[in-house]
Parts: sequence; structure tokens; C-alpha cells
Amino acid sequence: MIGKTMKTAAGLGILGFVLLLLALAGASANTHGGKENGEPDLKHGLAVYKVCAACHSTEAWGSKDGDFPMLAGQHASVIAKQLADIRAGNRDNPSMFPFAAFEILDGPRSIANVAAYLSRLPMGPDNGKGPGTDLERGRRLYGGYCAGCHGKNGEGSQNRSIPRIQGQHFAYLVRQFKWIRDGKRRNANPEMARQIRGFTDADVAVLMDYVSRLRPDKALVAPPGWRNPDFQ
Ligand code: HEC
Ligand code: HEC
Repeated sequence: MIGKTMKTAAGLGILGFVLLLLALAGASANTHGGKENGEPDLKHGLAVYKVCAACHSTEAWGSKDGDFPMLAGQHASVIAKQLADIRAGNRDNPSMFPFAAFEILDGPRSIANVAAYLSRLPMGPDNGKGPGTDLERGRRLYGGYCAGCHGKNGEGSQNRSIPRIQGQHFAYLVRQFKWIRDGKRRNANPEMARQIRGFTDADVAVLMDYVSRLRPDKALVAPPGWRNPDFQ
């Protein structure tokens, strides 16, 4: 390996050689977990995700009826917090609890790696949407109460751990929102919970209808016919 590297180096000049060494260091960091430089280990993230895929599917796009959320493309900080909350019992999720999922999520490293893996998957092109009955009111409510945190287009924020809600399934959004309003997600953002206390179910329906139609950036969405190559 070294001999081959040296021979290649002769043809590359010093700068090329340094770049080559950096590339080799990067490659080896990946295969050994990459913990030293704080980079996530995506291979390990995939290994963890193989257990989750039984429910969340190989593409992690969830289901249009909203039983399962779109996880692909969600900010890693958000996924990691949700997993930690579910583990700690701060978020009721009976369907996820009894499963092997929690044995394989054995610590912060597994959580960070699977979160990084999911955040890099392209989002499904076709999420479940609402009936489209009063989108104008939904738009006004969103602009007035939500955009300040979740972003103009529902893009959320990795740095502030605010969920991406664009491209998410309508029924999932409605359920989570009501659970936050009603205090069932005990580790929700207290400021959000305070602001939405007065929302009626009818408000929630038009609001989420609007949100379910916010489109993610094209670069984040899978091309037609895409299947996750990690599972082929
Ligand atoms: C037995 C089925 C099942 C398994 C296995 C499972 N999940 Fe889930 N998961 C669910 C369901 C159902 C929900 C939605 C629960 C709800 O409505 O609150 C969910 C919710 C989530 C959420 C919350 C998403 C959000 O935006 O609010 C995350 C993150 C998640 N799962 C990640 C994982 C990971 C990672 C694994 C594997 C380590 C996993 N799940 C294994 C069924 C499962
Ligand atoms: C003060 C900032 C703030 C405001 C205002 C706010 N949110 Fe949130 N929202 C958050 C944070 C932070 C979370 C993640 C909470 C957690 O960790 O459980 C969240 C979670 C959510 C979720 C659950 C997403 C998921 O994947 O589990 C939905 C849906 C949501 N917000 C919709 C809205 C809507 C619609 C509005 C406007 C009526 C709104 N939020 C207002 C900060 C905010």
C-alpha cells in the first residue's frame, strides 16, 4: 500500500500527495467509525437502520396514511432528539417500544449514526396530503404562528433542532401536533406548546393541510423510481 502510494506521489507533486494522504485518512476514518474527527459512521448507521426498516421501510419514506412518518431527509439533530425522548419515555410510542429497536440503539453513538444516515436519504416524492379545503386560512395561520420557528417553507433547522415538516404525511402531522398541544409529547418545545394551546381541531386540520403541501427543495427529493441501493 505504502509503496504504491509513494509511486503515485511521484507523479502528483507535493500538493497532490498531501491531498492523497488526506483522502486515504478520510477513507480509513470511515471504515473505523470516524469517531476521532466527530464525523458520523454512516456504515454503522445503516447497520442500525436495518432493524428499523422492518417498520420504517428501506427508503424510510413512511406511509401516506400517516401511521409511519417520513424519516428520510429529517435533520439529524431532530431524529436524535426524538429517539432519545422515545427511549427516555418522554414520548409515548407503544408500537416502537417492544421491539428489538431499543437493544440495537444501545447508546449515543448508535443514535448519532442512524440519525446521520437517515438525514442523508432522499425524501419520498409523494407524501400524504390533506383535503385542500381551506388552504388560504392554513397559509395565514402558518405565517402567523409557525414560520418563525419551522421556517417559511417548513424546512426546520439542524442547528436549532427544529423539525423539517415540509414533505411530511398529513395524518402524521395532525397526530403529532395534537399530541404536542395536549401534552402527550412531554419533552416538546414549551414555547410551541404554549403558543398552540388555543388551536381547535378544525384549525389544526386546515393548518396541516397547508403544511403537507409545502415542498422540500428539489435537491432533497428522490428522483422517480428511486430505491435505496443500500438494500439492493
Ligand atoms: C415496530 C415498528 C417500529 C420499529 C422497529 C421502529 N419504529 Fe420508529 N416509529 C414507529 C412508529 C409507528 C412511529 C410513529 C409513532 C408516533 O406516531 O408517534 C415511529 C416514530 C419514529 C421517529 C419519530 C419521527 C418524528 O419525526 O417524529 C423516529 C425518529 C423513529 N421512529 C426512528 C426509528 C429508528 C431509528 C428505529 C430503529 C432503531 C425505529 N424507529 C424502529 C415504528 C417503529
Ligand atoms: C417556538 C418555536 C416553535 C413554534 C412557534 C412552533 N414550533 Fe413546532 N416544533 C418546534 C420544535 C423545537 C419541535 C420539536 C419538539 C420536540 O423535540 O419534540 C416542534 C415539533 C413540531 C411538530 C412535530 C414534528 C415531528 O416530526 O415530530 C409539528 C407537526 C410542528 N411542530 C408543527 C408546528 C406548527 C404547525 C406550528 C404553528 C402553529 C408550530 N409547530 C409552531 C418549535 C416550534
